[in-house]
Amino acid sequence: MELSEAMKLRKSIRGYKAVPVPKETLAQILDMASNAPSANNIQPWEFIILGGEVLDELKKILEEKYASRAQPHPDFQLGRAPTGVYRSRQVALGKSLFQLMDITREDRESRRQWVLKMIRFFDAPNAIIIATDTEVSDHLSIFAIGAISQNIALAAVNFGLGTCIENVVVLYPEVIRQIARMPESKKIVIGIAIGYPDWDFPANEVQVSHEPLASITSWHGV
Ligand SMILES: Cc1cc2nc3c(=O)[nH]c(=O)nc-3n(C[C@H](O)[C@H](O)[C@H](O)COP(=O)(O)O)c2cc1C
Repeated sequence: MELSEAMKLRKSIRGYKAVPVPKETLAQILDMASNAPSANNIQPWEFIILGGEVLDELKKILEEKYASRAQPHPDFQLGRAPTGVYRSRQVALGKSLFQLMDITREDRESRRQWVLKMIRFFDAPNAIIIATDTEVSDHLSIFAIGAISQNIALAAVNFGLGTCIENVVVLYPEVIRQIARMPESKKIVIGIAIGYPDWDFPANEVQVSHEPLASITSWHGV
């Protein structure tokens, strides 16, 4: 597949077929994605690849923690809640998703179920978690992990797969460290749900509007 085609087709997928991704495919995707830039080539990433019963167990623990209102404590602090134009974009996404899923504003239980589905990696058959090390966990490393995450998302499209990069799945990082048998010095940055898209799942129809170039670009001497 042409890179431009993969870039055009990539979107966040929130409904998956219950078909596990072959291990070789996951390995190929990670191999392709590893050709990502990082400051001073430190390659500050480590992958935790999950599937089968292990992923089922993680989904269950995360869901239970969230449902019991356990205080989230991600390894990397979340920023302030967005305001202004950023809040508007966030609200527009939420509105579109809930409209597609037929969830009304007043329907608190369905909204709660949606968040629980989100924390279950949208019921994807596989997940990729990216960790880093306290030795190198500055903003440059997080930037590089963003780059490799996008590589993963694009490589996945090449194999007919969908992804959703998710921060809600790393709210309780100790659970992931325990499963991966990682020491406290490894920090959990982000999770990615991955699997074959269920195109009948309403939320996958979402059309996110990306800002027109004119509103986010200034040109100087060009
Ligand atoms: C760092 C990061 C964290 C994200 N976390 C979530 C998440 O927890 N839940 C979710 O549904 N989508 C999550 N997303 C997906 C965004 O909502 C999505 O990228 C955005 O709405 C643009 O839509 P698109 O990816 O379909 O183009 C995340 C994306 C990024 C880059």
